Amino acid sequence: MISQRKDDHVRLAVEQQHGHVGRNQFDEVSFVHHALAGIDRPRVSLATTFAGLSWPVPLYINAMTGGSEMTGRINRDLAIAARQTGVPIASGSMSAYFKDESCAATFSVLREENPDGFVLANVNATASVEKARRAVDLLRADALQIHVNTVQETVMPEGDRSFSAWVPQIGKIAAGVDVPVIVKEVGFGLSRETVLTLRELGVRVADLGGRGGTDFARIENGRRDLRDYSYLEGWGLSTAACLLDAQGVDLPVLASGGVRHPLDVARALALGARGVGASGTFLRTLMDEGVEALVVQLSTWLDQLAALMTMLGAATPADLTRRDLLIQGSLREFCADRGID
Ligand code: FNR
Repeated sequence: MISQRKDDHVRLAVEQQHGHVGRNQFDEVSFVHHALAGIDRPRVSLATTFAGLSWPVPLYINAMTGGSEMTGRINRDLAIAARQTGVPIASGSMSAYFKDESCAATFSVLREENPDGFVLANVNATASVEKARRAVDLLRADALQIHVNTVQETVMPEGDRSFSAWVPQIGKIAAGVDVPVIVKEVGFGLSRETVLTLRELGVRVADLGGRGGTDFARIENGRRDLRDYSYLEGWGLSTAACLLDAQGVDLPVLASGGVRHPLDVARALALGARGVGASGTFLRTLMDEGVEALVVQLSTWLDQLAALMTMLGAATPADLTRRDLLIQGSLREFCADRGID
């Protein structure tokens, strides 16, 4: 049953990408153009450091899959693309592995194909400390993601209906594993209040995982006979809104959800992200055009990000946070409602 769900998620996520890559609130963030701000390309370094971690690039392939034959093949290809481009990569939820160890290889392929890369394991917020450790061990993971996804669980017919244990369990996992713990949403966003709670729990990084790209309410509605939660589609805080909401919080943040192109990566870095992830758009390239096309896409994104940084006068990803930004439209209203300057 889990493996059928994993295959459904891939199919429905790719269908969503075919629909349209629409507008989202990143479009309401623009750089003030300074015509003489540019620097020389050789000065630009894409390397980023946060929470004691060092990444060669501020871009990552975010959590997607594993647990079935097809998703094992997808993970193999994602891992090959990660290895060829130096991009960090996260596993999909490893619950299927805890239920049935015979699917271990569909996850461990992430490490086998990418022995020297940065690999993140992924568990849910009800995983025991022992399971979280097994997930890290299987991938020899450099960090552990815990996903929080109450909206998805609610729309999922077989989903969880009890959420109160998540907060204490996240704290136990963060204290009980030997690698940094990153808590991530799956496309509905983490509010400032949530990020502050995560910091109290000993979580080292928050991946804001906001609205604007893959919509898991829509995916789970697509798996129901009756689409009776369709009114939850579009729920949540956009990634740009989450980045503004988390300004000044003393916890490193990553940005993902609705990142469509290198300009969105630059916008997210300018709004304070230490790294920027995408899932759906990379999956679509892989499924439609194959692994070589994904390698080209990742390399192009990195190359163009460096070009944008050169034009904007940012020698490092952290330098981008000092660029002047304009915030417009509904995002500006969000800032006013939340008391953000
Ligand atoms: C996901 N995502 C996800 N996240 C997670 O933490 N564990 C998981 O198992 C999955 N599974 C999964 C499957 C598929 C097919 C997709 C496309 C995505 C969520 C993902 O990591 C990310 O948060 C969202 O997809 C939003 O980012 P994009 O797709 O808008 O870039």
